[in-house]
Amino acid sequence: MIATFQCSSAKLSQLPADGLPEIAFIGRSNVGKSSLINMLTDRAGLAKVSATPGKTRLINHFLIDNSWYLVDLPGYGYARASKSEKEKFAKIITDYILKAPQLHYLFVLVDSRLEPQKIDLEFIDMLGANRIPFGIIFTKSDKQSADKTASNVARFSRVLRETWEELPPMLITSSAKKQGGEKVVEFIKKLLILSD
Ligand code: GTP
Ligand code: MG
Repeated sequence: MIATFQCSSAKLSQLPADGLPEIAFIGRSNVGKSSLINMLTDRAGLAKVSATPGKTRLINHFLIDNSWYLVDLPGYGYARASKSEKEKFAKIITDYILKAPQLHYLFVLVDSRLEPQKIDLEFIDMLGANRIPFGIIFTKSDKQSADKTASNVARFSRVLRETWEELPPMLITSSAKKQGGEKVVEFIKKLLILSD
């Protein structure tokens, strides 16, 4: 896979206008969106990563094989951001998700260590209400045993089943250990073939 940085956008009018399909990553600040993009593209440092939440502040497009984009978004729920900053990010994110003409699919990243978080569940419900196609990626699986990850995923699934008849696709990754990336890429490639 050949990956190059294409552009950073602060609003919809700045997005690429070439009509190529976009696959985007969203989730709480610090959940590992940028790290995942680096793992998928096998390019450490392509997307900027930081131990401090709130690192990605714009919509970043990475062109893949000259034919589609991976899109890194700012995170939601960064507690230490000021109210006006939070509102600015929330607007960037929701504008992109609800209105970007080439957004084909969204991955919601969820920290595999945590019990289901209200902010993630609310975000997922908002996607459902707006009929945005999405899958869930449970990140940072290296932080605990495979059993613990599986039980957290099962717990999340149980909560989703309370409101969803059908569960979204779910994948598990560790960017630190470079695990689960091939499955994500395979999944995306199938999506792109289907939408050709
Ligand atoms: P924002 O841009 O601030 O919204 O964050 P982000 O979701 O892009 O997270 P980022 O990729 O910057 O990673 C946040 C922190 O988590 C960094 O310190 C990463 O090194 C760490 N991290 C990301 N993925 C993993 C993982 O799979 N395992 C472990 N152990 N750490 C990870
Ligand atoms: Mg980031």
